[in-house]
Amino acid sequence: MNKIVDPAIPRHVAIIMDGNGRWALGRGLGRIFGHRKGVEAVRRTVDAARESGISYLTLFAFSSENWKRPPDEVDGIMELISSFIHRELDNYHRQNMRFQVIGERSGLGPKVLNALEVAEERTRNNTGLHVIVAVNYGARGEIAGALRALARQVAEGKLDPADIDEAAISGNLDTAGLPDPDLVIRTSGEQRLSNFLLWQMAYSELVFLPCNWPDFNRELFFEALSEYARRNRRFGALAEPQVALTDT
Ligand code: IPE
Ligand code: IPE
Ligand code: MG
Repeated sequence: MNKIVDPAIPRHVAIIMDGNGRWALGRGLGRIFGHRKGVEAVRRTVDAARESGISYLTLFAFSSENWKRPPDEVDGIMELISSFIHRELDNYHRQNMRFQVIGERSGLGPKVLNALEVAEERTRNNTGLHVIVAVNYGARGEIAGALRALARQVAEGKLDPADIDEAAISGNLDTAGLPDPDLVIRTSGEQRLSNFLLWQMAYSELVFLPCNWPDFNRELFFEALSEYARRNRRFGALAEPQVALTDT
């Protein structure tokens, strides 16, 4: 069955889930406690996304720069990712959700990598909400990888450099085949992209929210969708409908 396409509803929402540490610090708690509360916000967000009718939800869980954090925090985040998958996979699979991972897998420990790949494999043929989790992800590294793949094809004589166009680059990113995000939400009040989906975000609408990620909820998700519906996306063209201007 074909879905009715409503331009007021984004097809793909991507979220920079930021502010777990500050949430915890503000309460005199350790940063890991903030990440744990952040997992609850992920659960609420996935439910809200399913309800909203969007087709794709991308969640930035761990960046390629987040290795700079203390090993205890890194281990804690990896542990939370694997336990979240173990706990939710059956349920999400029953709900026909599909899981996909983007990011550099070779840098991940065997436990988290296995959990992520099991989730991908099991839900591969599902047709409901498509959830993309960015783990050890950095957009510049992703673009460099795509360019390396194209260069290899050129070196092997399989690709003419003249055929390297935008579609060829998109098709060699981790997100190949996925639509670009229509809406990108970042919590925590920071107004930056932090190396997230730089190529794919060329024309995304951006919504920055002051709340920390553990405080994110269904209502804020739907408010961001309402804000998106009020935006006028032009992609470089003129706004519709156009008002005729005369000199007189
Ligand atoms: C986002 O929260 C989670 C990850 C980056 C893994 P932070 O841990 O960045 O929280 P703040 O920004 O320090 O408050
Ligand atoms: C971006 O948040 C990465 C994730 C949310 C996973 P950061 O907290 O790492 O970003 P910066 O360091 O404030 O730019
Ligand atoms: Mg942060």
